Amino acid sequence: MIVIGGSSSVELARDVAKILGCEFIQASTTRFPDGECYTRLDRESIDSDAVIIQNTYPDGNLIEMLLIRDAAITLGAKRITMVIPYFGYARQDRLFKPGEPMSARVMCDILDRICDKVITIDLHKESTLDNFTHAHKDLKAAGPIAEYFRGKGIDMVLSPDIGASARAKDVGDRLGVPYDHLEKTRLSGTEVRIAPAKADCAGKRILIVDDMISTGGTIIAAAAALKQAGAVSVSVACTHGVFVNNAIENLRGSQLEKVLCCNTIDTMFSEISVAGIIADELRKG
Ligand code: R5P
Repeated sequence: MIVIGGSSSVELARDVAKILGCEFIQASTTRFPDGECYTRLDRESIDSDAVIIQNTYPDGNLIEMLLIRDAAITLGAKRITMVIPYFGYARQDRLFKPGEPMSARVMCDILDRICDKVITIDLHKESTLDNFTHAHKDLKAAGPIAEYFRGKGIDMVLSPDIGASARAKDVGDRLGVPYDHLEKTRLSGTEVRIAPAKADCAGKRILIVDDMISTGGTIIAAAAALKQAGAVSVSVACTHGVFVNNAIENLRGSQLEKVLCCNTIDTMFSEISVAGIIADELRKG
């Protein structure tokens, strides 16, 4: 097996290859003057299965993934496993208004044609991968997140909404602390309202877990509600740090003590590695 890192995931791919003890290739990707993608795998041939690690977000990364895959096949790669640490368009998994596309399904249709197995991490809805006819696996970052926070004095794990409560349970159970969820109402793309916490948060060091931080609106409102309820400290661990608009600046000015993400997207907060869980899944074939 050979591991190929696309430009979104070079370090993660290198780490996965190191854990597995297999060869690593970094795709040499640049842009033509008109912005189109150019990539090259610096090899004469590939005579094994290939694992390509690359996000499909933002859009340009999807194009790069398609080109890397073609280069790998042209060099002779056999089975292609696509590891997509952050799967773009996952939140558009149903029709909100007539006339819209099922964007998440479109992504699966493309992947279905170009690879033999897809591995994702904390997909917004795991059921999205049911659109994929080949082998697929959505890995959970709860293990690496819990390991990171083990022994760091967390008293309770919360999710910002009921939809993410399984994640809070998973991390809470692993840490041996109680878990609960908050009640979130989305007011707009950037604003949310978090109802006062029902759980007793007074004097507690709280860890909020979520699949992603985008604008930061959810997590900032959750931290404010929890501090209001008497929490001593509120930290957040999310899988995907997307950080759009002024998210980083807004998070710095918030009541959050610590902001941590996994390295599915490479950011200054990406301290929690998912390389181990990816390698474990790849060992299964
Ligand atoms: C929503 O269902 C997700 O789990 C996240 O809570 C949400 O996407 C975070 O977005 P933002 O940071 O913009 O509030």
